[in-house]
Amino acid sequence: MTAAKKRVLVTGGAGFIGSHITEAYLAKGHEVWVVDDLSSGRRANLPADATFVEMDIRDGDGIRNLFREVRFDLVNHHAAQLDVRVSVADPAKDASINIMGLLNLTESAIEVGTSRFVFVSSGGVIYGEPEQIPTDETAPKAPLSPYGVTKLSGEFYLNYYRQVRGLDYVALRYSNVYGPRQDPYGEAGVVAIFCTRLLLDQPLTVFGDGAQTRDYVYVGDVVAANMLVSELDLADDNELDSRAFNVGTGVGTSVVGLADAIQGVSGTSPGCKHEKERPGELRHSTLNTEKIRAYGWAPAHSLEQGLHATYTHIANQRAGAPE
Ligand SMILES: NC(=O)c1ccc[n+]([C@@H]2O[C@H](COP(=O)([O-])OP(=O)(O)OC[C@H]3O[C@@H](n4cnc5c(N)ncnc54)[C@H](O)[C@@H]3O)[C@@H](O)[C@H]2O)c1
Repeated sequence: MTAAKKRVLVTGGAGFIGSHITEAYLAKGHEVWVVDDLSSGRRANLPADATFVEMDIRDGDGIRNLFREVRFDLVNHHAAQLDVRVSVADPAKDASINIMGLLNLTESAIEVGTSRFVFVSSGGVIYGEPEQIPTDETAPKAPLSPYGVTKLSGEFYLNYYRQVRGLDYVALRYSNVYGPRQDPYGEAGVVAIFCTRLLLDQPLTVFGDGAQTRDYVYVGDVVAANMLVSELDLADDNELDSRAFNVGTGVGTSVVGLADAIQGVSGTSPGCKHEKERPGELRHSTLNTEKIRAYGWAPAHSLEQGLHATYTHIANQRAGAPE
């Protein structure tokens, strides 16, 4: 352990990415609390050494009381409404979780003197259909969904809180994260969905021509980025983008290329079936990650390594083997 022991709150810690983050803070010797309402997270994802509080981040009194009781040094905020289609169908619900939930946390963090707030934004949605690929942090922001708007708004709120109310924060703008524990039934986890279909020996569904590109980053590398920015000393600068870091690989992979790579890892090849393009889907998204690399972070997993770990995990889970 290098850093002093801290009281850390991970929101969304029963979810895919948040559960890995929780494990990493525990491994560093910190005391970790998880707040999660289990709307998509699972108890089984929670490490035994974390203190679990089943709570909705929209419960302002509950959040305030928890902060007063524990006085968190560090908050890592992963809980969110993250389904683009839900945000389109019900923007008020999206805003109530992603904005009002965030404000409950920031107000309480200020009250108890939390020294850093790590906020998870999305490099896949806040830049819209980017002109420049790979896209760096200073690119124009043009979210095309209520989810993109609430993620970007979260950054603006935190920038306000830092400048005016003194709450220190860092925003991480993830590309497409994949790895063990990703929900194979949601809309976002194409890697988990493909792995599951291969295990059922079913063809992989590709929407449109499959030439759309995404930047697939392994969850272990995302965890390393979180650990880095939890401790990083940053310049006193009020620009929105100065507190934000893209987290991705910088490499675009087409959906068809991903399908080939996963079939290679699995050793099966049921092939792809093409379905109609989904309206509103971005054509290309790949992040420039030079900024965070300058602080010593780099993805440590190749796509093949990450896919292998994910496929093996899902196969073991389906076979009922321990994770
Ligand atoms: N998966 C990706 O590729 C990706 C990309 C960009 C950003 N993100 C962001 O990363 C974060 C984690 O996403 P994930 O992929 O691990 O999804 P996930 O659904 O596995 O995790 C979200 C967690 O938040 C919890 N949660 C949701 N609403 C809540 C509420 N109102 N109160 C308390 N808990 C609540 C869920 O139960 C779940 O455990 C989100 O903020 C998401 O926007 C993810």
